[in-house]
Amino acid sequence: MLTFHVITLFPELISTYTSTSVIGRGMKAEKLAVKTYNPRDFCADKYKKVDDSPYGGGAGMVLKPEPFFAAFESIEEETRANMPVLLMSPQGEPFTQKIAQELSEHSEIAFFCGHYEGFDERIRTLATREICIGDYVLTGGELASLVVIDAVGRLIPGVLGKIASVHEESFQDGLLEGPQYTKPIEFRGMSVPEILRSGDHKKISKWRHEQSLLRTMLRRPDLLERLDLSEADKKILADLERENS
Ligand code: ADE
Repeated sequence: MLTFHVITLFPELISTYTSTSVIGRGMKAEKLAVKTYNPRDFCADKYKKVDDSPYGGGAGMVLKPEPFFAAFESIEEETRANMPVLLMSPQGEPFTQKIAQELSEHSEIAFFCGHYEGFDERIRTLATREICIGDYVLTGGELASLVVIDAVGRLIPGVLGKIASVHEESFQDGLLEGPQYTKPIEFRGMSVPEILRSGDHKKISKWRHEQSLLRTMLRRPDLLERLDLSEADKKILADLERENS
């Protein structure tokens, strides 16, 4: 069981998504749990003020530390001490499948979702890791948390129906997935490659791997540079490059 603890001013954004979808199914199957904590509920003042103007001047508002600390500290101390605490922000490290995999080894993960202009810098001291889901600015951290929850949740055994699909898909081995086909064999003049109909599993597996390498080379050469490719794969790529140039 993996529990996601989400500290957010908009808990309904989180629950709307997680209660449906594959993640919702994982929750029903008791493989996943999602708990939300609204800093507004932890405000000591009667106006429930969660943000204030920035010291030093400037436009916009800054999220106050007290309600965010109090929301976080409402999580049991032992849980807090041992879990990854992710602060979602465009300034974080880029989220990848590798990070999703690492996170899926934990039984509890916390998220801080920001809004408005940003967090008071002292809130950052609660986080163990700062995560960015792409080089663009969202209106809040909720969508970013949901992206991480989705990518991590689906790796938990029993959440996806067919676990084999997790191992064959894009990024799992650092490569993009190759083309897939289903019936009919012929559709609007486009046919399913002969080899996939051959029944020769060894050949099919080799073809799929080559297609994966080819697609990655054409679409995301940056991914190949980061991989420690085998000599056999390097040769396949050199041949593919020649054929496609
Ligand atoms: N909050 C706002 N923009 C974000 C992004 N790109 N990644 C993570 N959190 C964010």
